[in-house]
Amino acid sequence: MKILAIESSCDETCAAVVEDGRRILSNIVASQIETHALYGGVVPEIASRAHSEAISWVTEKALFEANCTLSDIDAIAVTNEPGLIGALLVGVNFAKTLAYGCKKPLIPVHHIKGHIAANYAHFNGKDGNELLEPPFISLVVSGGHTSLVKVNSYTDFEVIGSTRDDAAGESFDKVARMIGLPYPGGAKMDAAAKAGNPKAFAFPDTKVKNCPYDFSFSGLKTSAVNIIHNAAQKGEPVDVNDMSASFTAAVVNAIISRIELLFKNEDLACTKLVLAGGVAANSHLRNALEDTCKKHGAKFYCPPLNLCGDNAVMIGCQGYYEYISLKDKDFFNLSLNAYASSEF
Ligand code: KG4
Ligand code: ZN
Repeated sequence: MKILAIESSCDETCAAVVEDGRRILSNIVASQIETHALYGGVVPEIASRAHSEAISWVTEKALFEANCTLSDIDAIAVTNEPGLIGALLVGVNFAKTLAYGCKKPLIPVHHIKGHIAANYAHFNGKDGNELLEPPFISLVVSGGHTSLVKVNSYTDFEVIGSTRDDAAGESFDKVARMIGLPYPGGAKMDAAAKAGNPKAFAFPDTKVKNCPYDFSFSGLKTSAVNIIHNAAQKGEPVDVNDMSASFTAAVVNAIISRIELLFKNEDLACTKLVLAGGVAANSHLRNALEDTCKKHGAKFYCPPLNLCGDNAVMIGCQGYYEYISLKDKDFFNLSLNAYASSEF
């Protein structure tokens, strides 16, 4: 089954063709980062307009590279939640129009479920890669989300813990901006951290009372603000590499302490940990998670770098499993809407 997938929830216009939820036939991403970098963050209206401009050619290119026409496509999958509402609506309306015009099923896909499903395209049992199948536990770390999710089946998800305030990616971007790194700062902080001292600055150990699997990153961000302001008052610059290394270590330690707890919980019986989301590209986090999984005899899965950030392959993978698992659902319902925030 060939799915044409569309993703436009934030600042990347994406289209892909994916076969049977596992095989990538094409993967096109038009990034708006250069435009938003001028403003230090994503400007929602500019994002919507840029999606409108790009979505037709991105889709045409995805079909062309997959050596397909619309008549070869069995269904259309689209991200409809969560994300920037104006940005999501561009993708949803475009996908709806295609589905209506070509009389194809239309599959709505949850963006975060999609991030998890990106792993299916890589761990597909081909080219020496393992075949990843649920059940497993996924750590989703992106610009807008940080969650620990129990994936019972391809379409059954239970949230074990999530952030009470900022997401991991958001906190990286905010601190990066404070130390003068351009938007989006996550990847730049990752690189700078390699040359810095992770013990240069002390950060608090953030815990959420009675919710051991929940995260809180705003306290870490406030500590960074205080360190930077105190240094500025003394006329001392904050070393970018040291701050990057210390802040990264604080975020990674906060995550690892939850993962350690997870492995000790016999009810969860975690033997497979699956990393997902834009921050999955962070080299320090990947290394720390790999070591922790090794220590507990668990398997660690993380997507290749090109499938960590937003892409439409992940929407095609999850869309396939939504379709085959819930065939009795009305996939021809053209009143589909988009939602800025949503639960699993
Ligand atoms: O998943 P994603 O592409 O978009 C959302 O769904 O939010 O994640 C984007 C986030 C941004 O905050 C970006 O700074 C962060 O992922 N990111 C990183 C790295 N690469 C991207 N954060 C830390 N280290 C990285 N290497
Ligand atoms: Zn994302």
